[in-house]
Amino acid sequence: MTYVFSGTGNSQWVANRLQGLVDDDAKVYGMVFPVYAWGIPKIVEEYIQNHLQDILKADYVYAIMTCGDDIGHADEVLSKQLEGRLDAVFSVHMPNTYVCLPGFDVDKAEVAEAKVKETIQRLPTIAESINRRERRTEVTRGKWAWLKTQVLRPLFNKFLINDKYFYTNRYCSHCKRCVRGCPLNNITMDEDGKVGWKHEHCTMCLRCYHRCPNNAVQFGKFTKKKGQKIHDFDR
Ligand SMILES: Cc1cc2nc3c(=O)[nH]c(=O)nc-3n(C[C@H](O)[C@H](O)[C@H](O)COP(=O)(O)O)c2cc1C
Repeated sequence: MTYVFSGTGNSQWVANRLQGLVDDDAKVYGMVFPVYAWGIPKIVEEYIQNHLQDILKADYVYAIMTCGDDIGHADEVLSKQLEGRLDAVFSVHMPNTYVCLPGFDVDKAEVAEAKVKETIQRLPTIAESINRRERRTEVTRGKWAWLKTQVLRPLFNKFLINDKYFYTNRYCSHCKRCVRGCPLNNITMDEDGKVGWKHEHCTMCLRCYHRCPNNAVQFGKFTKKKGQKIHDFDR
């Protein structure tokens, strides 16, 4: 069994590539998803809470977390959620998708390509480890890992997982791509074509922002001059 959550395609792409490399084994539970704020996405936390008994029945549990740069102690957050039953955990670099604060933007094309190339090279070795059921932690923690996960992450979760800052600007063409694409069904469009966020389930995956063909979805003031993650590999 493999659980995949992907906001903007990176983790789905990793999971697809891994499929041909990892042996099919019903007793192995795999998870592939992005790192959010040096922790795990709210939707993944909820999934684990709801499926914990099934996950704990597996003989071997592994996770691959995709990240733009570093994960802090996200692997420990995950392991705690899984009551310590995380046999192997890997982080892999993929193009960055976080753009909602000053100083954070999508990667330049060459940086994004280098990350994808590095991940393509690592995946077969990661798959071998999984197939051998090795107990392994291979992650990029980065600097100030404790501070990021223990101090910044709770602040992020409290104040910045908040869909009330999303809006569409005058470039919105009412194509409904954001409405249809939202993995949590959290976006609406009224009869006048006005896009709204429901303030119910947002997990801050930014699919609405990155997939908008007109870059019309914005988050407060901070996304005004930011790029979108558009790379050939996820087309
Ligand atoms: C809300 C949010 C928070 C993020 N936090 C981090 C982070 O703490 N560290 C990091 O390296 N990348 C971070 N990223 C970047 C993503 O983890 C990375 O781009 C990931 O590959 C996206 O996967 P996806 O396309 O499957 O959604 C964040 C992205 C988002 C949207």
